[in-house]
Amino acid sequence: MNSKELKKKYIEFFKKKGHVEIKTSSLIPENDPTVLFTTAGMHPLVPFLLGQPHPAGRRLVSVQKCLRTGDIDDVGDATHNTFFEMLGNWSLGDYWKKETIEWCYEFLIKELKINPNKLHVSVFAGDELIPKDSESAEIWISLGIPKERIHFLPREDNWWGPAGETGPCGPDTEMFIDTGKEKCSPNCKPGCNCGKYFEVWNAVFMEYNKTKGGNFEPLKQKNVDTGMGVERTTAVLNNCKSVYETDLFKPIIDKIKELSKKEDTKAERIIADHLRAATFVLAEKIVPSNIERGYILRRLIRRAIRFGRILEMEKGFTKEIVEVVIDNYKDEYPELEKNKDFIFEELEKEEERFMKTLEAGLKVFNKLAKEGDISGEKAFLLFQSYGFPLEMTVELAKERELKVDVDGFHKAYKKHQEISRVGAEKEFKGGLADSSYETTKLHTATHLLAEALRRVLKRDIVQKGSNITPERLRFDFNFDRKLTDEEIKKIEDLVNEKIKEGLPVIKKEMTLEEAKKIGAQGVFEGKYGEKVFVYFINDFSKEICGGPHVKNTKELGEFKIVKQKSIAAGVRRIKAIVK
Ligand code: SER
Repeated sequence: MNSKELKKKYIEFFKKKGHVEIKTSSLIPENDPTVLFTTAGMHPLVPFLLGQPHPAGRRLVSVQKCLRTGDIDDVGDATHNTFFEMLGNWSLGDYWKKETIEWCYEFLIKELKINPNKLHVSVFAGDELIPKDSESAEIWISLGIPKERIHFLPREDNWWGPAGETGPCGPDTEMFIDTGKEKCSPNCKPGCNCGKYFEVWNAVFMEYNKTKGGNFEPLKQKNVDTGMGVERTTAVLNNCKSVYETDLFKPIIDKIKELSKKEDTKAERIIADHLRAATFVLAEKIVPSNIERGYILRRLIRRAIRFGRILEMEKGFTKEIVEVVIDNYKDEYPELEKNKDFIFEELEKEEERFMKTLEAGLKVFNKLAKEGDISGEKAFLLFQSYGFPLEMTVELAKERELKVDVDGFHKAYKKHQEISRVGAEKEFKGGLADSSYETTKLHTATHLLAEALRRVLKRDIVQKGSNITPERLRFDFNFDRKLTDEEIKKIEDLVNEKIKEGLPVIKKEMTLEEAKKIGAQGVFEGKYGEKVFVYFINDFSKEICGGPHVKNTKELGEFKIVKQKSIAAGVRRIKAIVK
């Protein structure tokens, strides 16, 4: 049974049990600022697990695209992936343990034809906070699973969630297939990572909500949340030794082998996993950068490139592999084909950017490595000047049995941010002290420019720096190539249009929360106090700022961009005037 058949069977089975199929949500969580990516099928359902009625009803089923980077170092073994697809079914305050476990059993044995004698399950052993889940164990026994194949495990194994810091969670029961391999030790049991017991399914009994204070309070309704990994289940159904032998990965691995001059299973797997994940992230229009999602994407691409070099692949190999990924998935995920040009363009740029500094960076790394363990400052130098993600430095160091001072790296990073912030504040103070009419005008022009960049370049443009003198404005922002003459003209035209329209500039005081909620622009992290000012330029722009600004855009005169240049990887600078 290939992966497509498995997905179809799953959806059909639960539809027959009264479930409604819901479409996969984006990899970017819509309402959860506590995580960067969607990590499970339940993630987009959080509001409904908390009690809001779902428009499709109380029984839902889906295939959800997910990304988890917590296990990134394990990628390369038989089963760990960053990106994966998860099958899931949910009861939103509807059925409970009996139906859940009975259907799991029926699906595994009758539909997937798994030998019932090979099935092991685990249930929550209980602790000082939550009692042992004897009810689930009894249900498994009633289905004929003997006691010795029911394992009571602690919280580390049999408790799920929440996905972020807060939210729905609860004890779970997990299902494993005994692969027939020797036990790695007399204590080997489900939950052990040696590969003897292969986890295929997890059913979570979500009765609790974890609050900000770390307490577990009962949820309004008792929910069921199950998750089955498509990759692993396809592997176990087809007696594959790893997920890379399944139809989900086979064509990708074949392509990698074709492009390699050397053989190295682990490297091949890492490249396949990371480029598949990067393709899906790029399809969400995320671009590689040094923060948040962009940083994860950068790590995935750069790690794939580094392993590609180990296999002696030629420059541009990422694109050829991604082409196969897109082909393999485009029927189920049309966003891949739709954003193909964007994906290739970004990939090529990131490969070029990385290649430019990689050689030099490796030389520096080798030199530093000769001096012993890598200090935080050194790791930061590699990050700042050679684009080495911290994790890559750690990995390279590990290969040489050296340590990296990770805390020291974060300190150096913070210090650097602090210096640029103090710099920015000084500049800002300078602006305030010199609140001449000319600088005030340029302040407002800066807001117009930032918004015009967003609209013309159609990207999530954020300010990386700003400096204003009475003569000109200077604005730094995240963008990775030269703007074309046509783009410059469009931006100038749009700003000038807004100046001509004579839009009122209005200041409102609100809490940072409110400002975030209404989507005001601003560098949020740790920069502002509780209360902030948001400047509205009619409905064209809203931005957190201390001011000062003009009262109406018509005061500005004609706006003109006089210079543009790159000041760091992925950061551009524009200088502009109004006259
Ligand atoms: N949320 C659970 C998991 O991720 C079940 O879907 O395993």
